[in-house]
Amino acid sequence: EQSLPPIITFSEGLDNMLGGGVPLCKITEFCGAPGVGKTQMCMQIAVDVQIPSQFGGLQGEAVYIDTEGSFIVERLVDIAKATVDHCNEMARLEGFKEGEITVESVLSGVHFYRCHDYVELLATVHLLPEFIKKHPKIKVVLVDSVAFHFRHDFDDLSLRTRLLTTMAQSFIKLATEFKIAIVLTNQMTTKFSPGEDSRLVPALGESWGHASTIRVILYWEGQKRWAWLYKSPSKKESRVPYQITMGGVRD
Ligand code: GTP
Repeated sequence: EQSLPPIITFSEGLDNMLGGGVPLCKITEFCGAPGVGKTQMCMQIAVDVQIPSQFGGLQGEAVYIDTEGSFIVERLVDIAKATVDHCNEMARLEGFKEGEITVESVLSGVHFYRCHDYVELLATVHLLPEFIKKHPKIKVVLVDSVAFHFRHDFDDLSLRTRLLTTMAQSFIKLATEFKIAIVLTNQMTTKFSPGEDSRLVPALGESWGHASTIRVILYWEGQKRWAWLYKSPSKKESRVPYQITMGGVRD
């Protein structure tokens, strides 16, 4: 079976750390504090999944589920412009036709959902198989963030655990059945353990921690942003710096 390439992020360091980029058929979770760049990362991936195949891309489409209201279409346009310029530059160098990817084509390749509460989120995830069947170019489903409604609306923790487990199973099924990437973002929370200093860990608890195959923690150190591969089935734990520029995620 021919294996499709991963989705690049335009940070070579991060891509290398992940083994080439965000893999298909797996769940990748980006965790981090507010403002560290999780939404930017999602928008970058939603754009880069659409890079045409002659440039080594997947020529796919994205489902983008926004639970926080942090998706900004103008920002997607900035990132799309940079990717389109990059592809046109490659086309010129290699003698391909330019204009295979345009800002308009990128925008229409992002299927956007805004979910205002966990019921909407669960319903949307439930309907995804039918939607993806109708849009077979979809190669990634992004959820920014998976934590939001489960942290704010919940008092009943056993119900929360059950719903999260069901949702995790839906994501695993989507990833393997449709051979697509699932990209989730998550917040960080403070964990207090007896006899230890409190530390920041991904939110939603330990059982949710098994949902994702790959976990990357994004964090600040001084002025610098770092991506830390925290969990991976095949790569060793490591860290790389990355930046967010006008054009999106870069080294
Ligand atoms: P929450 O949504 O609050 O949880 O945060 P997040 O981790 O999703 O952060 P987000 O992806 O919204 O990243 C915000 C960061 O992106 C800010 O620190 C900005 O520095 C950076 N950023 C956003 N827009 C631009 C832009 O147009 N140019 C540049 N250079 N940076 C930007």
